[in-house]
Amino acid sequence: MPATSVIGLQWGDEAKGKIVDLLTEHHQIVVRYQGGNNAGHTVKFDGNTYKLSLLPSGILQPHVMSVIGPGVVVNPMALLGELDSLTAGGHECSARLLVSERAHVICPWHLAEEAALEKSRGSHAIGTTMRGIGTCYRDKVGRSHAIRIADLVDTDSFAAKVREIVPFKQLLLNALDPAAPVLSADQIIQEYSAAADRIRPMACDTTSYLLDALDEGKNLLFEGAQGSLLDIDHGTFPYVTSSNSSGCGIHNGSGVPERAIQRMIGVAKAYTTRVGGGPFPTELDNEIGERIRIAGNEFGTVTGRPRRCGWFDAVATGYSARISGVDSIAIALLDVLSGLDELHICEAYDIRGQITRTLPARCEDLADAVPVLTRVPGWQEDITGITRFSELPQNAQQYVRTVERIVGSPVEFVSVGPDRSQTIHMNLN
Ligand code: GDP
Ligand code: IMO
Ligand code: MG
Repeated sequence: MPATSVIGLQWGDEAKGKIVDLLTEHHQIVVRYQGGNNAGHTVKFDGNTYKLSLLPSGILQPHVMSVIGPGVVVNPMALLGELDSLTAGGHECSARLLVSERAHVICPWHLAEEAALEKSRGSHAIGTTMRGIGTCYRDKVGRSHAIRIADLVDTDSFAAKVREIVPFKQLLLNALDPAAPVLSADQIIQEYSAAADRIRPMACDTTSYLLDALDEGKNLLFEGAQGSLLDIDHGTFPYVTSSNSSGCGIHNGSGVPERAIQRMIGVAKAYTTRVGGGPFPTELDNEIGERIRIAGNEFGTVTGRPRRCGWFDAVATGYSARISGVDSIAIALLDVLSGLDELHICEAYDIRGQITRTLPARCEDLADAVPVLTRVPGWQEDITGITRFSELPQNAQQYVRTVERIVGSPVEFVSVGPDRSQTIHMNLN
């Protein structure tokens, strides 16, 4: 099994971190290939909780090499801050981390520009994580004013680029917002060069490293960030992130050919959440939504914002599963639904009288979608200690089977609590 990938099938926070951590045991290399420190992945084991943003979730297991691929946008300060906090917690990981020379670098102007742009969007704000993700990707695609890790670790080239870019960005920032911060090229060069000294030993051609590893028969695990519905090309544009966060991003973000991925696992919550703006057909802006938010502790890992909560949307999840060709799905946070009398699953949208079972391209249409709901009886029991599917309450089993049927992919894992041990492996039942 050379390469496995784990991707989110909703709008992020599906518990990818937990599933990646679970699978890491059987892999030697874990790879992040898109996004940046907008991600927030939580991993729990042995009574400890770890929150990872930019580093692959597998990094916590000492036998693993971690790779940040060419498709990731890297904030050097965030990278080092995360490594330092792991070191402080007894996990020294920097010797097991490689960062692609091709990855782009998030600079202070990206954050300032994003703040001004989000402000200018008013009520149409995307509700981004304000980490400079979209503005860094824009400069990359625009092919000017972009800095890559290879430039960052080359002291002279980095300083020259910063001196060239800063005056241009200052003009732009001043035009966008009279209260924009003043950028200092000297200060940026000084701070980033200090970070570069620490990053230099990790910077390399990760593409060759991964391709060689495949040739040597090593097992690779690809860790998706965000969720497929936030994919720049296939998601709910413009309320998306700026990378290919579905399975479509693995090849271009890592340099590893698609045919090497032999196992694609899609992770979905047993309900739906979304952080930030954008349409959300099954949203529960009521007592049930609030109950799910509290039971599931649905507050953003990165920004602390309350997550919007709603019923499971099998149309959107099924669409995500299809575009990435998932082999199986992991249903997470099933325990959060315990105690509800009746559960609803969206199996179609009614868009101004038209019934559809796929995701419309226009956000305006999705905003008008009224969910067509299937009702499934709930269960009252606490399921957080159950490790076999057959021991789940009958109604919980029926719920999982209904999701499986409507989404159209076999369920491989059911997660009933945040800890590594709180997982039902369907193949072991
Ligand atoms: P990711 O971004 O997809 O890795 O997901 P996050 O870590 O942002 O959000 C998932 C949250 O749910 C984290 O706080 C996890 O610790 C927690 N979690 C994961 N699986 C379960 C589960 O089965 N039940 C419960 N109650 N919490 C879970
Ligand atoms: P993980 O990996 C949930 C959302 C933001 C915003 C939109 C664009 O933990 O699942 P960005 O800062 O990326 O330009 O914001 O995408 N978003 C996420 N929502 N989980 C995430 O990551 C997210 N990363 C970005 O809230 O709506
Ligand atoms: Mg998250």
